[in-house]
Amino acid sequence: MATVRTSIHGYWSSRFVFVLAAAGSAVGLGNIWKFPYIAGENGGGAFVLLYLLCIALFGIPVMMSEVLLGRRGRSSPVNTMTTLAAEEKRTKAWRLLGVLGVLAGFLILSYYSVIAGWALAYVVETATGTFSGVTGEKAGEVFTNLISNPQRLLFWHTVFIVLTMLVVVRGVSGGLEKAVRILMPALFILIIIMIGYAMLNGNFMEGLKFLFTPDFSKLNPEVVLKAMGQAFFSLSLGMGAIMMYGSYLPDDASIATTSFQVAMADTLVAILAGLAIFPIVFANGLEASQGPGLIFNTLPLAFGQMSGGLLFGTIFFILLVFAAWTSAISLIEPAVAWLIERFSISRFISSMICGVVVWVIGLGTVYSFNSWEKIEVFNGTFLENKSFFDLLDYLTSNIMLPLGGLLICIFAAWSMTEKSRREELKIKHEGAYKVWRFLARYITPIGVILIFLHVLGILEKLNLVT
Ligand code: PFF
Repeated sequence: MATVRTSIHGYWSSRFVFVLAAAGSAVGLGNIWKFPYIAGENGGGAFVLLYLLCIALFGIPVMMSEVLLGRRGRSSPVNTMTTLAAEEKRTKAWRLLGVLGVLAGFLILSYYSVIAGWALAYVVETATGTFSGVTGEKAGEVFTNLISNPQRLLFWHTVFIVLTMLVVVRGVSGGLEKAVRILMPALFILIIIMIGYAMLNGNFMEGLKFLFTPDFSKLNPEVVLKAMGQAFFSLSLGMGAIMMYGSYLPDDASIATTSFQVAMADTLVAILAGLAIFPIVFANGLEASQGPGLIFNTLPLAFGQMSGGLLFGTIFFILLVFAAWTSAISLIEPAVAWLIERFSISRFISSMICGVVVWVIGLGTVYSFNSWEKIEVFNGTFLENKSFFDLLDYLTSNIMLPLGGLLICIFAAWSMTEKSRREELKIKHEGAYKVWRFLARYITPIGVILIFLHVLGILEKLNLVT
């Protein structure tokens, strides 16, 4: 007999809606804002290659494992892990995996919302014509003025948190489904238009070369860690967001196919965003490694010069906000669902509590770009020169998410019985099942652990690598 559990929070109306919602979670600032700037900071091609490897070797197996656990547990990650650990006769400590996820969700959303606030501010800037005929210098000034003004950042951060909570309060099927159906395809079309512009007016060849010619001298353990972190971040893995969404997945949907589709869509958007941005960077003599401001300093130049740029630019930033919005919802949904289950409170109260907590933590990021640029307590350590934002980003993307993903794979591929795994995954093709099991059992856990050890310098100390 298959295990039959029901979700008290609702279901997706179809498999297709799950793919849209999971893609909505995956595609966000991570693809359009973060991927280009960390690829730029870490030398381009070699980073991109590592990133793609991480998606294939870690991303897809973890995503399948995460959906598997979610659909079997049918509740928030904390309770899913509690239920499954009991069912598989494993230690109760597995619930801490859910707790780690909830915590990561709070921390990520706290800074994610500030950056989404930049996009909101840019909707207004673009729509009011700030960028018409703009020069690189002027565009840079507009961005600096924004981030050096804590009041403005705080305002937009607040607006974004309120927007997110408005959808979360309505629950999955009421709020999210409607949003993703239209917005995702629209965003895709706009990125294609941007690439068209970059082809005609940017230095397209230079952009291609930068993204796809690996220069391995740029590689070091930190770059490998960042590529791995970015793969987890971009696919929304390792913190229970996809587990939560998996818990709303109808019983008959194929986990393998849906996971694959989501990973493909997400990767495609990241690469396309790179193709839209770097040609403009090189054509205008901008710095590819300038960091988090990259798209905000680059895209306005394109919008300022192209005909119809005011309209396109405004729509672009609106869609970027929407992409961030659908991701933000998934970042906080595990926490909201858990509070509802744990304290039997209403969705409204739970959402309010989560919203306020995230808003408060977000203040750290608001001040990271102006009065509180560096945290001095860490001077002399490897965290020297990092701001609160840098620290949160490093801790969540590069440590918490890969750690969560590693544990998810261990539970799915080792701790569950073979029967439970097969029953839930329902992969008809034996070879495909074995590939997943091999990756989730060996490649992902060993790969993630090796990368951690490499960064800590432990492999070097053991003379295992030079
Ligand atoms: N994947 C999102 C992005 O690329 O913007 C960010 C994210 C959402 C990370 C949900 C983690 C998560 F659980």
